[in-house]
Amino acid sequence: MASDLLHQIRLHGAIPRHIAIIMDGNGRWARGKGLPRTAGHRQGMNAVREVIEGAVEAGIEILTLFAFSTDNWQRPRVEISALMGLLTVYARQERAELVRQGVEVHVLGELDRMDAAARRAVDTIVDGTSGGSRMRLNLMISYGAREEIVRATRLLAERVAKGELDPSAIDDDAFRAELFTGDQPDPDLLIRTSGEFRLSNFLLWQLAYTELHVTPVLWPDFSRKELFSAVRDFQRRERRFGRVRAG
Ligand code: IPE
Ligand code: IPE
Ligand code: MG
Repeated sequence: MASDLLHQIRLHGAIPRHIAIIMDGNGRWARGKGLPRTAGHRQGMNAVREVIEGAVEAGIEILTLFAFSTDNWQRPRVEISALMGLLTVYARQERAELVRQGVEVHVLGELDRMDAAARRAVDTIVDGTSGGSRMRLNLMISYGAREEIVRATRLLAERVAKGELDPSAIDDDAFRAELFTGDQPDPDLLIRTSGEFRLSNFLLWQLAYTELHVTPVLWPDFSRKELFSAVRDFQRRERRFGRVRAG
C-alpha cells in the first residue's frame, strides 16, 4: 500500500530533493483500450494530479514533469491541439488545489511557440500559484535539452560580445544559470514510464549524475504507489559522483 511505502521512505531518510519524470505511454495506454490517443492524454492528467499530491506528501522540494517536447510539435495537428486544450483545462481546474497544497508552478520551455490560449493558460497557473512554498513544480512544455544548451550558449556569447562577460569567467555555474532551470539543484532521481530506456532530449545537462528509474507502467496508470517505489529504489542506490566510496 502507498501509505506503507511512505512510512518506509521516512524510516530510510535520504528523500530526493528533486525528482524529474518523463511521462510516457499515454498513446499506448489508449491503444490498449481501443481508445483514441487523446483519451490517453486526458487520463494522464489524473496521474499528474496524483503524483503532485504524492510528491508533496513525501516532502519532495522540486518536481519536474516533461509534458511536451520540442519534437512533439511534429505530431499530428489534432493531437497537438488536444494536448494544448488539456493544458488550458488543467490550468483552470487545478489552480486552486495547487495553491491549497502550496505548490508553485513554473512553466519552462520555448513558450513563444504556443498559441495565445495556451500561453494565457500558462500565465494563469504561474501567476495564480506564485508564492507556494511547499513544492516547486516545473512543467516542461515545448522543451528540448539540446535547444536549451544552445540557447544558454547564445546568451553567454551575447554577454561576451557586449563586453559584459569575460570568457574565462564561464564556468559550470555561469552556464547553469542560463538554463531554464537556472540555479535549481539537479534532479536526484529521474523516472521514465512505459519501459523506454532513453532520455528523448530531456535535461541533458542537469542529469549528469542523476539516478535513473525506468518502470514499465504506462503514464496514465502511474500512481503514488509507483512514485514511492521509485523513491525506495533510489534510497538503495549508492551515489558516488565519480569518487570512491567513503570509508
Ligand atoms: C506521453 O505519451 C505524452 C507526450 C509525449 C505528450 P505519448 O503520447 O508519447 O504516448 P506513447 O509513447 O505514444 O504511448
Ligand atoms: C518524451 O516522450 C517527451 C515527453 C514525455 C513529453 P516521447 O514519446 O515524445 O519520446 P520518444 O518519441 O519515445 O523518444
Ligand atoms: Mg511516447
